[in-house]
Amino acid sequence: MSSPLVSKVTFEHHHDGFGLGYSSPRLSWQFIASEQTAPSWTQTAYEIEVEWLSSTSKAETFSVESNESVLVPWPAKPLSSRARAAVRVRVQGRGSGKDATSLETTSDWSEAAIVEAGLLKREDWVASFIAADTKAIALDSDEDGLHPLRFRKEFTLDAAASLDSGSRARLYISGLGVYKAYINGKRTSDEEMAPGWTDYNYRLNYRVHDVTGLLKPGETNVLAVEVAEGWYAGRLGWGGGTRFIYGKDLGILAQLEIHSGEKVEPWRTTTDTTWKVASSPIRTSSIYDGEGFDARENTDAKVGWNRVLQQGVDVQTDWGATRELPWPAGELVAPNAAPVRVVKTVDAVSVFQSDSGKTIIDFGQNLVGKVQVQEIDIPKDSEVTLKHAEVMENGELGTRPLRLAKATDTIISAGQPLRQWTPQFTFHGFRYVQVDGLTQPTPTKENFKALVMHTDLKRRGEFTCSNAKVNQLHSNIRWSMDGNFLSIPTDCPQRDERLGWTGDIQVFSPTANFLYNTTGMLGDWMLDLQSEQMAFDDCIPPLVSPSIPIPGWPHSPAAIWDDVVVLTPYALYQSSGDRTILERHFESMQGWLEKGVLRDPADGLWDQGHWQLGDWLDPKAPADDAAGGATDDVLVADTYLCHVTDVFADVCRILGKAEAHAAYAGQAARLKQSFQHKYISPAGNLMSSTQTGVALAVRFGLYRDDPRELETARFRLDKLVRREQFHIATGFAGTPAILGALTAVGKPQLAYRMLLEETCPSWLYPVTMGATTVWERWDSMLPDGRINPGSMTSFNHYALGAVAEWLHATVGGITTKPGSGWRTVLVQPVPGGDLTSAAVSFDGPYGMVSCEWRLEGKKFTMKLDVPPNADAEVTLPSETSVQKVESGTHNFSCDFDPGEWPPQPILQPH
Ligand code: BGC
Repeated sequence: MSSPLVSKVTFEHHHDGFGLGYSSPRLSWQFIASEQTAPSWTQTAYEIEVEWLSSTSKAETFSVESNESVLVPWPAKPLSSRARAAVRVRVQGRGSGKDATSLETTSDWSEAAIVEAGLLKREDWVASFIAADTKAIALDSDEDGLHPLRFRKEFTLDAAASLDSGSRARLYISGLGVYKAYINGKRTSDEEMAPGWTDYNYRLNYRVHDVTGLLKPGETNVLAVEVAEGWYAGRLGWGGGTRFIYGKDLGILAQLEIHSGEKVEPWRTTTDTTWKVASSPIRTSSIYDGEGFDARENTDAKVGWNRVLQQGVDVQTDWGATRELPWPAGELVAPNAAPVRVVKTVDAVSVFQSDSGKTIIDFGQNLVGKVQVQEIDIPKDSEVTLKHAEVMENGELGTRPLRLAKATDTIISAGQPLRQWTPQFTFHGFRYVQVDGLTQPTPTKENFKALVMHTDLKRRGEFTCSNAKVNQLHSNIRWSMDGNFLSIPTDCPQRDERLGWTGDIQVFSPTANFLYNTTGMLGDWMLDLQSEQMAFDDCIPPLVSPSIPIPGWPHSPAAIWDDVVVLTPYALYQSSGDRTILERHFESMQGWLEKGVLRDPADGLWDQGHWQLGDWLDPKAPADDAAGGATDDVLVADTYLCHVTDVFADVCRILGKAEAHAAYAGQAARLKQSFQHKYISPAGNLMSSTQTGVALAVRFGLYRDDPRELETARFRLDKLVRREQFHIATGFAGTPAILGALTAVGKPQLAYRMLLEETCPSWLYPVTMGATTVWERWDSMLPDGRINPGSMTSFNHYALGAVAEWLHATVGGITTKPGSGWRTVLVQPVPGGDLTSAAVSFDGPYGMVSCEWRLEGKKFTMKLDVPPNADAEVTLPSETSVQKVESGTHNFSCDFDPGEWPPQPILQPH
C-alpha cells in the first residue's frame, strides 16, 4: 500500500498557468488513486518546490503541515511580470495499511508545472494600440460591416538578439476586434475569436504566446496580425442591433519580446506607427452574417502578407500607414479561462438535394463552429456561398429562426482550388449547410468538414445510464453547453442574439459546473457583470452581460435573471470550494438585495405591479408571449427572492460576517412568512398551484413547518403531474426544480415518469424528433415537422438542460456536500423508472469521484470510488441513514423496490 500519485499543480483557476495574471497564485493538486493506494488516505503535510526559471536562484522547498490540497497559499516570493518557475508538490499522508493498521506514506514528486506571469502592471506595456490611418487607407464601412484589416511589421533579428538555448520569445497581444497573429507566416497560437468578448469598457483580455520556435535569428522576420470587427465593432442584438458599441477603429496591440539569459532588458518590437496596414481579401466578417472572402483580392502584395513579401512587391505603395490609438479605458487583463479553440472536427454524414434542388450538407449534429472546405476547384470569378441552419423545414434549409443573421459565408474564386478554406472571424450554429454556386463537380461529403469551436474548458463530469434516450438527452445537453460556452455563456449560438443572458446561465450553472471546470470562465464573466451592475446606483445588473443596448427594454430589475449575481457565484463556490469568489461578489450581492429588488414596502416581497419574465417559456405560454405562462410571474419572482435572501444569509455565514448573517437570516425568515401569508392557504394550497409554483416552493423550503402542508404539496404535485399525463409544464424557472421537488416529496417514480415521457412537451420529445442539442422551446420543432411560429425559436439553448443536475445528483447519485467543495461527496442515488443501471463520474478538485449502480430485480449494488483526501456520505436508496466512508473503493448492496411503475395518469373518464 502506498501514497496516491499527485497531479501537476494548477494555479488559481487558470487553465494552464501560462500568462498568469496573479503574483501569488494559490496552488491546487489532485490525487490519482490506484490499486496500490492505501485506503482512507488523507494528507497530513505537503512540500512545494519552486524552481525559478527566469533567474539563477536555486530551487526553494517549502514544507507545510496541512491537510489542504486545494487553493493553498503561494509559498514563495511573489511572481513579478514575466517571472517563470517550475513548481512541484510532494505529499505526506496517512492511510490504512494491512490489517487496517495506520500507514504513513510519502508520494513521489509530481510532474513540474510551469507557471509564467503575464504583464502584471500597466508600465510593462511599451506597445501602443494602433489602427489604420484613414487618411492613408480607404475603409469601407457599410451595412455589411467593417472591412477586415491586415497589419504587418518587418524586422531584422540581429545577432545580439539571437536565440540561444536559454532564450525565449513571447508575444503579448490584444486587439480591438477579433484577431489572429502570425510570425513568418505561422500562427502564433491556436486561439479563435481572440481576445474574446468582455465588456471592453472595463476589461480587455490579452494573451501571451510562446513564439520562440517561430523566429529566424539573423534574418528578416515578419510579425503580422489580421483583425475583423468581432464583438468590438460588429452588429450586436436583434431587430437590426447596434453597431460600434465599443468603437469604430479596428486596432491591435502587440509586444514581441526576446529574453536571453540573464539580460534584464529584453529585445523588443512593438506595435507603433512604423507598422503598415492593408485591407484584407476577407471583405466582411461578421459574427451574425458570416464572412465574405474574395480570393481575387489576394494580389501579389497580399499573398504571403504575413511572411517576407515576394521580391518586387512594394510595401510602400500597396500598404498604408497606421496611427496610434489612445490607451483604452478598460484594464488589460490576463483571462483565467482557456481561449476559444477548434476543439474537434466533425465529418459530414451526407449531401442531399433539397426539394427545390439545392445542395445541402448534413453534419448529423447541431454544432457551433464553421465549415472547412476541403480541396475543391472553383472556376475564376464564381461565387460559392455556404448558408448555415440548424434544421430543415418543408424540405428546405430552415433559416427563419436565424431572424436577421445571414449566417452565410461567401467565397469568390480567383481560379485556384480551395484548400482547407474556412472563415477566420465568425462562427455559426448549424447542422445543415446549403452550398450554392458549386455545381461542377457535384460536391461530395468528403469536400466539407465542420470545425467545432468553443472555450476549451477542462471536461469534468460524465453520465450514462441504461436508457439510450436519456443518454442522448445528456449528450444534447453537453453539445448545447459546448456551443454556448464560446468566450461567454450565451443563450444561443445561431440567430442575431448570442448574448450573455443572465437568467439562462443562472439556471444552468450547477449543471455546467459539473460537466466542465467552469470556474475560470464563469469567474471572469462575473467580473464584467459585476462592473456593469455596480456602475448603476441602483445596483441592478444588466439582463445580458457584456451589456449591450436593447431597445425597448428599460433598465429595470428582473427576478431569476438578476438573481444571477447571488446564485452563480454561490454555485461556483459550491463546485470549487473557493470562498474568495463570495468575497469578491459580496457587495454586488448585497447591492442587488438592498437596492436593486423593487419591493412592496408592506412586506418586502417584489412589487406586485412590476413586470417579470417569470417562468419564461412555460409550454403553456403563447408563442408570442414567453412570460405569459400558467404560474403567476410575481409569485415565481417571490419564491426566488426568498431563496436568494437565504443564500445570501449563508454567504454571510461562510464569510464569517456574523451580524450580517443574523440580519439576512432574519430577513429570509420574515420574507418566508410574508410569502406564506400571501400565497399559501392555511391548508397548504399554493395560489399558483402549478408544477412550477409548487416545485419552487418545495425546493426553496417555503411551506410552513407543518407536516400537513408538505402533505398538501405532495398531493398537489402528484395530481398536477398525473393530470398533465407526465408532460412538462415548466419554463426556465420551474424546470430545474420539478424533478428534485418530486424526489423531495417522496415521489421519485413520478419524476422518472416525467423524465421518460416522449410526447410533447417533455425532455425526450426533442430526442424522438432527432434533436442533437437542447431546444429553446419544448416544441421548437412541432410534431408535424414545422418550426414553432414564435420569433424566438432556437434549437440550441442550454437553459432547459438544467435537468442534468438531477441526472447527476439523483439518478447517478453524486453531488458535493454543500460548503465542502467536493471534499465530502454526497452519494444518494435514487433508482427508478425503467433504468437498470447508471454510472456517473466527476474529475473534481480532489480527484476522480465515480459511482456506478445496477438494479437487478430488487437487488441494488453500487461501486463507489472516493478520491484520496476526500470522503463521502452515502445514503442507500432503501435507507434514510447516512454511512460515512473514507477514500478508496467501496461496494454496497441492498434490497430496493422503486415502487409502482409505470405510474398511471389521471384521465378524463369517458
Ligand atoms: C433569450 C433567452 C433570454 C430571454 C429573456 C431570449 O431572447 O434567448 O434565453 O433569457 O430572451 O428575455
